[in-house]
Amino acid sequence: DVERRVAALLAQMTLEEKVGQLNQYSGREVTGPASDRKNTLLASIRAGQVGSMLNVKGVKDTREIQAEALKSRLKIPLLFSLDVIHGYQTTFPIPLGEAASWDLDAIRLGAHVAAREAAASGIHWTFAPMVDVGRDPRWGRVMEGAGEDTYLGAQIAKARVLGFQGSTLGGTDAVMACAKHFAAYGAALAGRDYNAVDMSEQQLWEIYLPPFKAAADAGVATFMNSFNTLNGIPATGNAYLQRDILKGQWQYPGFVVSDWGSIGEMANWGYATDKADAAQKALTAGSDMDMESDAYHKNLEQLVTNGKVKIDLVDDAVRRILRKKFELGLFDDAYRFSDEKREKQVLNDPQNRAAARQMARKSLVLLKNENATLPLANTLRRIAVIGPLAKARRDLNGSWTVDTDTTRITSLYDGLRQRAGKTTELRYAKGCEVSGESRAGFEQAVATAQSADLIILTVGESWDMSGEAKSRTDIHLPGVQEELFKVLKATGKPVAVVVFGGRPLIFDAIAEQADAILYAWWPGSEGGTALADVLYGDYNPAGKLPITFPRSVGQIPIAYNQQYNTGRPITRPSDIRYKSAYIDSPNTPRYAFGYGLSYTTFKYSDLKIGRPQMQAGELVQVSFTLTNTGKTAGEEVAQLYLRDPVASVVRPLKELKDFRKISLKPGESKTVTFTIDKEKLAFYNAKLEWQAEPGKFNLMVGSASDDIRLDGTLELLP
Ligand code: IFM
Repeated sequence: DVERRVAALLAQMTLEEKVGQLNQYSGREVTGPASDRKNTLLASIRAGQVGSMLNVKGVKDTREIQAEALKSRLKIPLLFSLDVIHGYQTTFPIPLGEAASWDLDAIRLGAHVAAREAAASGIHWTFAPMVDVGRDPRWGRVMEGAGEDTYLGAQIAKARVLGFQGSTLGGTDAVMACAKHFAAYGAALAGRDYNAVDMSEQQLWEIYLPPFKAAADAGVATFMNSFNTLNGIPATGNAYLQRDILKGQWQYPGFVVSDWGSIGEMANWGYATDKADAAQKALTAGSDMDMESDAYHKNLEQLVTNGKVKIDLVDDAVRRILRKKFELGLFDDAYRFSDEKREKQVLNDPQNRAAARQMARKSLVLLKNENATLPLANTLRRIAVIGPLAKARRDLNGSWTVDTDTTRITSLYDGLRQRAGKTTELRYAKGCEVSGESRAGFEQAVATAQSADLIILTVGESWDMSGEAKSRTDIHLPGVQEELFKVLKATGKPVAVVVFGGRPLIFDAIAEQADAILYAWWPGSEGGTALADVLYGDYNPAGKLPITFPRSVGQIPIAYNQQYNTGRPITRPSDIRYKSAYIDSPNTPRYAFGYGLSYTTFKYSDLKIGRPQMQAGELVQVSFTLTNTGKTAGEEVAQLYLRDPVASVVRPLKELKDFRKISLKPGESKTVTFTIDKEKLAFYNAKLEWQAEPGKFNLMVGSASDDIRLDGTLELLP
């Protein structure tokens, strides 16, 4: 039925109206005071020259603008889109933090809550999930993805797509998702945003494309292309990516939107002479919708008329977009996502905050806990809560938020105040700012610390230090925050440090001398409450790092699966002469991928590999016993890694192939089983064929990529 309706509508459309569907503009000014841009945009909408708006939100505004679109000749409704990245009104932890939960159900629920709120507020389409593999912590956008691993990233991509969209499009509690940025944006040279990408086809297919394929397989409605070049060709004008792979090999039925202005930017790259040339190249290469370049609007009609762009390609792009408008039910009721009563009810649903609190708890990673400093004892008389982020609210939301009403965000101090009993006094001192050199507040911080039984120090990045266009060459804790730590540590009081940030940060003194460290990312609206839950042990932390924390910027690239044995491996740490090593640093990171502690301990035992040999096409079960050996109930993320020790293409030392998050009471044991099939053994060979090569494979099961507890071998027979 949708296909029939799309065809019937397309048949009535003029070329101008077709091109109209391919344009997207930002609406910040459309709902604001009168301006030239506002008048022009409203006139274009009424003339059927706009297919979609971004940054218009709320029932009132979306209704008002949709009404203008319905004045156009064919009354084609607009798509309202927005960056709903980690929540709408209720903010969840940043995606990198959510990924640290390794909890696919919780991640799916987080996306669902965000979608439900957005969809009640007039939004049809979110520019999420970002499924770019992010292996370089200098790149500010690592905060928006699922970290450095392809397998974990693909699982999370699927969970997020299903969370945003539901199982089929059209529900008023769901929005269209967008897998972005296609492709390889995370590999920008030197971690500098918008930069060139140069990589082998093997890297592209093996590391960067699978999360996109997973999103496509999960039915993601749209893709966004990226700002970078890929081996010299801008992604926006890249026919290999968009036509050959996405719409060709993968038979992707949705549409592709450009990134903001990325069509026009092809001229800056030196790939197009001007916007007309860029429009021709982008449309031909498979970019269906132009976000904010105005390149299609100004040039496409003429390009078709003078034969430079085939009308069939324009029709295909329009068809893809109209299909989504029909699937969303907008032709039956253009206002079905703009219902005032639903908006009020959904945005005030307390369940949303409960889900955000649960997700925030799950995102926290306990990096260190000496002498059982945490959980905090209820008997503590006085806690000194110190640091520039202790009372911060806006910062806890992080980058890419829709709602910045700080009254809706719980600070760490608020969370602790609510949780600490009447017998525990909290004393606060700021100590210093996040950035800057002033140590003026140190004295008061030390005095506050001296009178307390324990110090909770909060440090990190402010909300605007990671995110788009926030690349950093130095990822140490900014300002004098580590200096503040040192003077507090010198008081001799135990110091538990809570670190906020949108990327892996480097903090040497804290890593070495703090009594406890809890990595909190930017945890969202319920961050303070969730932190209090974990600091007091009402919730046992179970987060694991989805990205490696280097010791220094000089170690980058350092993702765990970028480590090879090399021809000169270090066999004895005391002898690194002429070995693949640094003379001024160990090769190992500060904190490895997959690492994270709990208030309890887990024992791995009794590895059983179903069979020592397998034929392609067979399945082998790998099982082991996981036991909670501590006194507290807890969850463990057990991880399965694999190495192909001899292959036609040299393989990494470890690759994550599966994981399970298991909940265990004290003393309880469970059998955990992974299934190995040929897929898990396969890789892209030199001819770019996805193949498992016969021979021996090392299987490793552990608590982190650097904490393997059990291992064995399995042979694939020829
Ligand atoms: O969705 C984003 C994209 O990720 C980066 N540039 C702007 C877009 C729209 O806001």
